[in-house]
Amino acid sequence: MKIGVINAGNIGSHLAKAWVQAGHQVIVSKDGDRAKLQPLIAELGEKVLVGELEEAAQFGDVLLFSVSWLRFEQVLSRLGSLEGKILIDTMNPLKVNEAYEHFHDLEFMRFNSTSEELQRLVPNARVVKAFSTIPAHLLDKDSWKGSQMLPSIFFAGDDGQAKQVVAQLIQDTGFPGIDAGSLSSARLLESMGLLLHRIAEAQEGDSNLNLAPTFLFKQ
Ligand SMILES: NC(=O)c1ccc[n+]([C@@H]2O[C@H](COP(=O)([O-])OP(=O)(O)OC[C@H]3O[C@@H](n4cnc5c(N)ncnc54)[C@H](OP(=O)(O)O)[C@@H]3O)[C@@H](O)[C@H]2O)c1
Repeated sequence: MKIGVINAGNIGSHLAKAWVQAGHQVIVSKDGDRAKLQPLIAELGEKVLVGELEEAAQFGDVLLFSVSWLRFEQVLSRLGSLEGKILIDTMNPLKVNEAYEHFHDLEFMRFNSTSEELQRLVPNARVVKAFSTIPAHLLDKDSWKGSQMLPSIFFAGDDGQAKQVVAQLIQDTGFPGIDAGSLSSARLLESMGLLLHRIAEAQEGDSNLNLAPTFLFKQ
């Protein structure tokens, strides 16, 4: 399968690696600081293609749309036609305050989700929510070696065929996928992200390190 990674950041770089290893043709691109792609390029070498955002978008039949919610419209405007493409949305509706701290946009979350907003803006693409509830470092499959447990990857969408493709791509990362229903379930998955943040705050710890035990796991 031809996959375009729209922003190989924390999440996108792990998934690009997994999909290259599963034999897919992957092109990575970066919103923001392109120098941050270097470790991934050094690791994967010729097995991965590298391009601008629009090149990745036009190459992929499936696009991993993994950008900051603050920048998603600017990024979207650079991608060209997305007709028929499957867009995997990993976003959470996070804003930033004066102290540069991220917080969930609760007002937006009351009646919407990033996935539904994305689908509204690109009605001829097929949006599937996935990989939004798992901290990026837990997507490193090597760190689960020897473990009997794996985190579940929830996905949601309205297009059945697109969901089948995404279910296979989740399987290719080595993690179990769980179908969460229609695209409107993206609201619930984004609320789950908020819950995980609240749990991390309650633990007063590093959200990345301490969230793992709070996930739903599958043996
Ligand atoms: N990281 C996670 O554990 C995680 C888990 C689940 C879902 N998600 C979601 O997945 C998407 C991608 O996350 P990521 O962590 O993989 O991406 P990322 O590459 O670390 O950051 C996203 C992009 O936004 C830019 N950016 C960061 N902070 C910004 C700000 N305050 N204002 C404007 N632009 C900003 C970055 O530019 P620079 O590279 O130049 O800094 C980068 O291009 C996000 O919507 C996130 O909410 C992330």
